[in-house]
Amino acid sequence: MADFIRSEVVYLTGLPSEQTFENPIVIFDRKLLKSERSKKWLESFKFCYAVEAGEKLKQIESLQFHVDKLLSVVEKMQTKKITLIAVGGGSVGDFVGFLASVFKRGVPLVHIPSTWLAAMDSAHGGKTALNAGAYKNQIGTFYPAQKVIISRALLYTQPPERVTEAIGEILKTALLAGGSLWKQIQAESQMDQKKLWTYLPQLIQYKYKIVDQDPFEKKGIRYFLNFGHTFGHAFELSEKIPHGVAVNWGLWMALKFSVAKKILSKNDFLAISESALLKNNLASSKIVIKGLKRAKSLSALLLQDKKMSEKGLVNFVFLKKPGQPQVLKVSVKELLEFSEWIQE
Ligand SMILES: NC(=O)c1ccc[n+]([C@@H]2O[C@H](COP(=O)([O-])OP(=O)(O)OC[C@H]3O[C@@H](n4cnc5c(N)ncnc54)[C@H](O)[C@@H]3O)[C@@H](O)[C@H]2O)c1
Repeated sequence: MADFIRSEVVYLTGLPSEQTFENPIVIFDRKLLKSERSKKWLESFKFCYAVEAGEKLKQIESLQFHVDKLLSVVEKMQTKKITLIAVGGGSVGDFVGFLASVFKRGVPLVHIPSTWLAAMDSAHGGKTALNAGAYKNQIGTFYPAQKVIISRALLYTQPPERVTEAIGEILKTALLAGGSLWKQIQAESQMDQKKLWTYLPQLIQYKYKIVDQDPFEKKGIRYFLNFGHTFGHAFELSEKIPHGVAVNWGLWMALKFSVAKKILSKNDFLAISESALLKNNLASSKIVIKGLKRAKSLSALLLQDKKMSEKGLVNFVFLKKPGQPQVLKVSVKELLEFSEWIQE
């Protein structure tokens, strides 16, 4: 397996010009055309095309269409030395990342994330992914972008309420990192675009701290990043709610489960659950109770996540203390018993 090359992370208040890249082909989320500024910027690239973001884009079936499309663009450019630029959220990044890793056996890749989730998480660490049928992220490569450009101008084109949806992922990282990042986040009573922009370098730094120790997901360390995601994914699918909100509930469940297993002390749990960001975000939705009442579908959803399950076992991320995650195998049966118990 090739060495893992760490991406260069560049922070920009504005947007990068075409001249920054060598023969760029920009594949971007069509929704970005709604903002006049990003529309003008995207249209300044000679070779670019729009895609519909979302899980359908990541379906294996859409690969053939995009390979053909790319071949026709490359033919017009009359060069083989292209750079693929993915501009969008995690779905566009996962898909274009995969495309870059296999097109002509690999072409240079740049990520320019347009969602908070992509900016703090999915654009970094080199995981690309396609979906196979109902199974998410079953096909993929490790292919880090040469560069990840974090553009404030692009991220600010999102509606401000998207920050609320990002809180789950912010809390996840802060709880995993512990130390001063957790202290700062714990003291926050609200989050807005400006604040989130200032936290981004620390959140991104933590992701690289984990990825650098376990780039190819062989040592179990990278697994920590799934904290809150076992139940979170199930809620996201069953309740059709934004990923970040589902993760928030997933974190709450993981913390409660950590207490039930005597891994996290009750006092530490109380201190964590006093975090205004966690409390406010949970108070704004009541999905968990609804979701848990559908225990049967929850079981199917937990088992469906093939990556996490082997013979009905799930690698569950618990928390001993902020900054001290711990992965243990638990059975889906135990997860379901816990979710029934928590309703009482
Ligand atoms: N590769 C990884 O390490 C990794 C990690 C976490 C998640 N993921 C993947 O990331 C995806 C979720 O990420 P996401 O939430 O960014 O998904 P997404 O790309 O589906 O974007 C979410 C929505 O935001 C819209 N959008 C994008 N930029 C916008 C902007 N600037 N303004 C307004 N709307 C905008 C999109 O059109 C879409 O409707 C999932 O497919 C998940 O599997 C990958």
